[in-house]
Amino acid sequence: MSSPVDQIKERLSIVDIVSSYLKLEKAGRNFKARCPFHTEKSPSFFVSPERETFHCFGCDKGGDIFTFVEEIEGVDFSGALKILADRAGVILTAHSKEESDERKRLFELLEDITLHWTEKLLEAKDVLEYLTKRGLTEETIRSFRLGYAPDGWSDAAAFLKSRGWKDEELFTGGIAIRATSGKIYDRFRGRIMFPIADASGRVIGFSGRIFSAADPKAAKYVNSPETPLFHKSRVLYGYDKAKLAIRQMKSCVLVEGQMDLLLSHQAGATNTIATSGTALTTDQLTFLKRLTDTVVFAYDADVAGLNASRRGIDLALEHGFTVSVARLPKGKDPADVVLEDKDKWHEILKAREHAIEFYINVLKEHTPNEHIFRRKVEEVVVPYIAKIGRPIEQAHFVVRVAEALKLDAEPVWRAVKEASKASTEKVRTSASTPSVVSNVVHEKALHPALRRLLGIVLWQKSCEKPVVTITEVGDKVKNLCDISISGILEAIDEKGRERMIFEAEMYYKDSEGLLREVDELLLSLREAELKKHLESAHLKLHRAELKGEIGEINEALRAYASLTREYNEIAEVKKARAKEL
Ligand code: UTP
Ligand code: MN
Repeated sequence: MSSPVDQIKERLSIVDIVSSYLKLEKAGRNFKARCPFHTEKSPSFFVSPERETFHCFGCDKGGDIFTFVEEIEGVDFSGALKILADRAGVILTAHSKEESDERKRLFELLEDITLHWTEKLLEAKDVLEYLTKRGLTEETIRSFRLGYAPDGWSDAAAFLKSRGWKDEELFTGGIAIRATSGKIYDRFRGRIMFPIADASGRVIGFSGRIFSAADPKAAKYVNSPETPLFHKSRVLYGYDKAKLAIRQMKSCVLVEGQMDLLLSHQAGATNTIATSGTALTTDQLTFLKRLTDTVVFAYDADVAGLNASRRGIDLALEHGFTVSVARLPKGKDPADVVLEDKDKWHEILKAREHAIEFYINVLKEHTPNEHIFRRKVEEVVVPYIAKIGRPIEQAHFVVRVAEALKLDAEPVWRAVKEASKASTEKVRTSASTPSVVSNVVHEKALHPALRRLLGIVLWQKSCEKPVVTITEVGDKVKNLCDISISGILEAIDEKGRERMIFEAEMYYKDSEGLLREVDELLLSLREAELKKHLESAHLKLHRAELKGEIGEINEALRAYASLTREYNEIAEVKKARAKEL
């Protein structure tokens, strides 16, 4: 039997899948649309039903049906496989090798315990009452699958073992802890359980909030340890539920805690995700970047809060996000705000300030001394302004800082220039460490004629009745310029090849007159080659003349003349052809 991937590819067409997310328009043999992965006014996103591929000329994303789902749903390969298998009606059996057996078992284990804990919550009236008092509705509790892990040492372990799970698996899944005696006991005891899901909604771990603990020193939250499924630095609580809204609202609200996230979603800000009290990581931002370019930090506005979020804000700015900050009332978190008045939460989000504006304002409020304030602005704010790529935005903040410091814009500009010089110097020194030299040719660096020829032969390869073949064109190119196109093709990556095919296809539409085009391109290639030779011949002649050696001069002259002759011939041919058209 064929693999699930092949079965999916047989049953689903890329056009169907893509058009369930965006409106496609016919464009010759392809379809086009405005790209879902970057903002654009006119469509540069193309889908080929023949090759089952897509490519965007604006942001350079491209690939097959799996890549598309990975990108648009913000999931990894196995997540995309699951989504597409569901749509195609392909059953992913235990034999499909896409996911290791261990991971699959762990997913099942966590699903089992999630169900168990949700049932336990329904029995625990006092916990339900507490959650209701915190403002959570039944609907939120159900849809986020909140649970309760009863107090005691072995409720979860006993349940799972009765279901046939082994100690070892409980341990690997992070549900149980192994004592030095070798016995295992429950990790989560007397805690409200928040299941944490991956991007496709499968539970990968938990965060447990204290409810009734015998030990008064117990941590407020206990989280799953690192497991084959759970990687703390990559988790974003609520990502699976928020991803669609993030895409639609074109922004993402970041809060710190689980309760903050639940209440924010409940209040209608469904584009919220939680960092769960840890510093934002590069991995998390990379995931987010698939969905949006804009993040709103909803963190504490006091100095401690500022210091805590500063790293996150820095990192988000470095990743090219547009960053703003929604300031919370002193001593309150989003959960408190929503509980009091959910409209207030929307007001706060709406009143968000650009990160730079936020820094200026917070520094001003917390630094009564004008002199220190100036220095802090220079230290904290100016480096950010130096990094802004858009000139008008940069100018805006220069003026803004000048205002805040009661200065002219001129010295601020100077400080910004200094700061950007310092940062490029930093980059330069860090880049001076030798890097592995890649032998991959980027197709954009190729001569345009060669690039087009390669596009044509690749495109023709996938056509039913090709007019030219790689071998024919390859031989001619080899003769004319001594370049091996198969070598070049091998060195170009998949995406580069795809880009060239789409271009050739768009440019030439059908095969009519293609042979002629190929000749023309070969000619241009030869012309470019000759030009290069002419330059070096010219140099040689010049050197020979300096030396004054007659023999050498004559030889150089002959070479030069013959190259010129061929060059002129090509020019003639081209002129003649242009007249024919
Ligand atoms: P907070 O202490 O602000 O808790 O930690 P909270 O979210 O306001 O919780 P409630 O409202 O008292 O119920 C913020 C987040 O930091 C993580 C948790 O994810 C928490 O939601 N955290 C906190 C931990 O991981 N461990 C801890 O011991 C404390
Ligand atoms: Mn709270």
